[in-house]
Amino acid sequence: MIRFTNVKKTYDNGTKAVNGISMLISNGEFVFLVGPSGSGKSTILKMLTGEEPITSGSIVADGFDLIRIKANRIPYLRRKLGVVFQDIRLIEKKTVEENLEFALRVVSAPQDGIDARVDYVLDLVGLTDKKQCYPRELSGGEQQRVAIARALVNNPSTIIADEPTGNLDPERSLDIMLLLERINKLGTTILVVTHEQRLVDQFNKRVVYLEEGRIVSDQENGCYDYEKK
Ligand SMILES: Nc1ncnc2c1ncn2[C@@H]1O[C@H](COP(=O)(O)OP(=O)(O)OP(=O)(O)O)[C@@H](O)[C@H]1O
Ligand SMILES: [Mg+2]
Repeated sequence: MIRFTNVKKTYDNGTKAVNGISMLISNGEFVFLVGPSGSGKSTILKMLTGEEPITSGSIVADGFDLIRIKANRIPYLRRKLGVVFQDIRLIEKKTVEENLEFALRVVSAPQDGIDARVDYVLDLVGLTDKKQCYPRELSGGEQQRVAIARALVNNPSTIIADEPTGNLDPERSLDIMLLLERINKLGTTILVVTHEQRLVDQFNKRVVYLEEGRIVSDQENGCYDYEKK
């Protein structure tokens, strides 16, 4: 469960990026976070993952209180929250398999079971046959699927994705969203930021719409253009 309570964020240069948001995301939900450029979507995700400090209010994720969390606990939080970035951030000098093993090792997973876990997530994203490839040998969509596999490898409660389809063509974008939906059906909570209006409208999920750092609409079975409903 993730709970935001009156969360605000003012960056050091004075920009008020988030102006008091409250929302509850229950286990197993699939939530689209949408809104215009600069409305605070990425800032919200960064506060949730501990990348940016919260100015005021509170965020509690899986029992971790982001206001009080000590730096040495952040890796444990990140084990619960699998993060997918738009710019993917795979390690170029490592194969697909090594990228996934590395993600497991950095949180000191026991050696036993690493191979089985890597094979499981590669199968889930449909990339078993690309295990020995380097990132540069993969298409953009395949790289994004590796990024999702990497986010999943520690069996997180939640996947947090910031525009995971940003660099992909419409068909690949649909594939990624369908993959996230499948992962959600297996029990993982999904929070995804996207500008893909067509996909949001097609998926009939909860849609949280932000404007100038505030939630202006939060609807089950929502559509991107919330005023239409
Ligand atoms: N590190 C930073 N320092 C200062 N201001 C920032 C920083 N990061 C973001 N901002 C500002 O905070 C506001 C919200 O930015 P944020 O990146 O959260 O928006 P966004 O909704 O993710 O936009 P986009 O759809 O373009 O990715 C913007 O006005 C942005 O300029
Ligand atoms: Mg953003």
